[in-house]
Amino acid sequence: MAKKMIHDFHRMKREGEKTTWLTAYDYPTAQFAEAAGIDMLLVGDSLGMCVYGYKDTLPVTMDQCIVHCEAVRRGAPNTFVIGDMPFMSYQSSVEKAVENTGRFLKEAAVDAIKLEGGRRILPVVRAILDAGVVVVGHIGLTPQSSGQLGGHRAQGRTVESARSLIDDALALEGAGIQMLLLEAVPPEVGQFITEKLAIPVLSIGAGMHCDGQLLIVSDLIGQFQAFTPKFVRKYCNVAEAVTNAMKEYAADVRAGKFPTDEHCYHMLEGEYEKFQEMVSQYEEPT
Ligand code: KIV
Repeated sequence: MAKKMIHDFHRMKREGEKTTWLTAYDYPTAQFAEAAGIDMLLVGDSLGMCVYGYKDTLPVTMDQCIVHCEAVRRGAPNTFVIGDMPFMSYQSSVEKAVENTGRFLKEAAVDAIKLEGGRRILPVVRAILDAGVVVVGHIGLTPQSSGQLGGHRAQGRTVESARSLIDDALALEGAGIQMLLLEAVPPEVGQFITEKLAIPVLSIGAGMHCDGQLLIVSDLIGQFQAFTPKFVRKYCNVAEAVTNAMKEYAADVRAGKFPTDEHCYHMLEGEYEKFQEMVSQYEEPT
């Protein structure tokens, strides 16, 4: 299947075709996602929690993001890959933000970058767009500022908060971003913003009316254990399957049932007799 690019996602919005989006952090998962026909992959800074076991995404570094983007790129060469700007890779200065964006493109060949925030990051967004980079916005529950939001809480549940999200969405589109992600907002707010904006509006916990959906792959496959957000549907239970497989392996090893002859490398033809003669020359243990 031909790789979809940003104009394809815009066309899909116009034609009412939903976009499918998952996170991926490694080579095999990227291969599975490409084989499954997933439209876009996000190498999210959620890798801090899903891969490294941090309690939140704040410790994640640019170097970590680049390494994981490279692996995902190799695993899914024909899928639109989005690199996620980690905390403090774009907040401290416009120059640093543009430089770090450049790293994603030059070192990991991503197709776009995503960053969290609305009107207050407009100067950074404009500078990255001026550098010719495809930008995906992210508003609503923005985990990097969850301290200010009072924790990982849904946003836009009051009229004032919904208005603020709508104004952020319009400002980001006005600045020129090519796609917007809404996280953990009521479906009514998701629908209004989706209908108001010409660019694709994707949802992770923003309801069924958006132009497409994102899920964290570790949630979808039942791998992430710490907590399960309300917006998740688990499609399999990898944690249980893998733990059971490991238990079976340990039991087989302890019972002498693994390995068996079929798992062994045998000597080449005619070598066994010579081997026996050779070892017979070793002294008997005393
Ligand atoms: O890092 C990530 O996976 C994200 C999602 C939570 C939207 O930003």
